Amino acid sequence: MEYITLNNGLKMPIVGTGTNTYGKENNEYNAALTNEIPELISALELGYRSIDAAIVYRNEELVGRVLAESTVPREELFITTKVPGNEEYISSKEATRAAIDNSLINFQTDYLDLLLIHFPIEDKGQLKNTWEVFEEYYEAGKLKAIGVSNFGKEHLEELKEFAKVKPAVNQIQINLTEPNQDLLAVLKEEGIAPVAWGPMKAEAHQKEVLDEIGESYKKSGAQVLLKYQIQRGVIVIPKSHNRENQASNLDFFDFELSAEDMKKIETL
Ligand SMILES: NC(=O)c1ccc[n+]([C@@H]2O[C@H](COP(=O)([O-])OP(=O)(O)OC[C@H]3O[C@@H](n4cnc5c(N)ncnc54)[C@H](OP(=O)(O)O)[C@@H]3O)[C@@H](O)[C@H]2O)c1
Repeated sequence: MEYITLNNGLKMPIVGTGTNTYGKENNEYNAALTNEIPELISALELGYRSIDAAIVYRNEELVGRVLAESTVPREELFITTKVPGNEEYISSKEATRAAIDNSLINFQTDYLDLLLIHFPIEDKGQLKNTWEVFEEYYEAGKLKAIGVSNFGKEHLEELKEFAKVKPAVNQIQINLTEPNQDLLAVLKEEGIAPVAWGPMKAEAHQKEVLDEIGESYKKSGAQVLLKYQIQRGVIVIPKSHNRENQASNLDFFDFELSAEDMKKIETL
């Protein structure tokens, strides 16, 4: 596994697994929960250690149970979860504290590695209160890093006005259909690590080129796409319900894309 050192010194695996459809009937986001997540067990067996969860996925408790029952020691895991911007969780500092305390219970742990604000909070007072609670838990050691998700440049500017702790990451959509280059440049300048959600997304014509590039490295187009992301410092959290794909999504540490191929993918 390779790691990226976040702006507070914490090391985060460069690849993790998403969980948004795990433990749900027919692998559908809005479907009822099942009582098991064989894909998460498989991901842990294959070597995934970074787990991307969220309160809105409704499966924190189930994900937490699988992690707690696994033989992987807690200190090897990197658990991320996210507090949604709904009134229920941000209407007061108490509400946010209750949300974090509940996540700690769900993951059967006394600390989370990374907690994110899931979506920008438009009300400035609520944003400030929420971030202050994040900082409080961070200072208490119950959160090893804090960050944001789906924040644009203007949201980051707003947070800067009062944040004592700089966000460690911004989890945003980064893929070939949504390259988000301008925001990536801002994050680089600010020292905020980009985490790509939806990292596998590409149009059919882009996939053809990725497959072609992959031939010379004996890698699949999907592996080329993930390598492209991590080679430019983007953390990826691909999600798969298929063990072969899960294994393939970890198997890109033994090759390096040429500068020419990197450029080719960037302009796809
Ligand atoms: N912060 C946010 O607002 C936000 C929003 C969306 C998602 N997320 C997080 O990001 C994670 C990943 O995003 P995502 O699940 O939307 O999309 P994704 O990981 O880009 O794509 C998942 C899809 O790609 C397929 N796939 C995975 N590996 C493959 C491979 N090697 N070859 C071919 N197909 C492959 C999967 O199918 P198979 O199952 O058949 O392999 C699945 O259909 C989520 O699980 C969630 O944790 C966060």
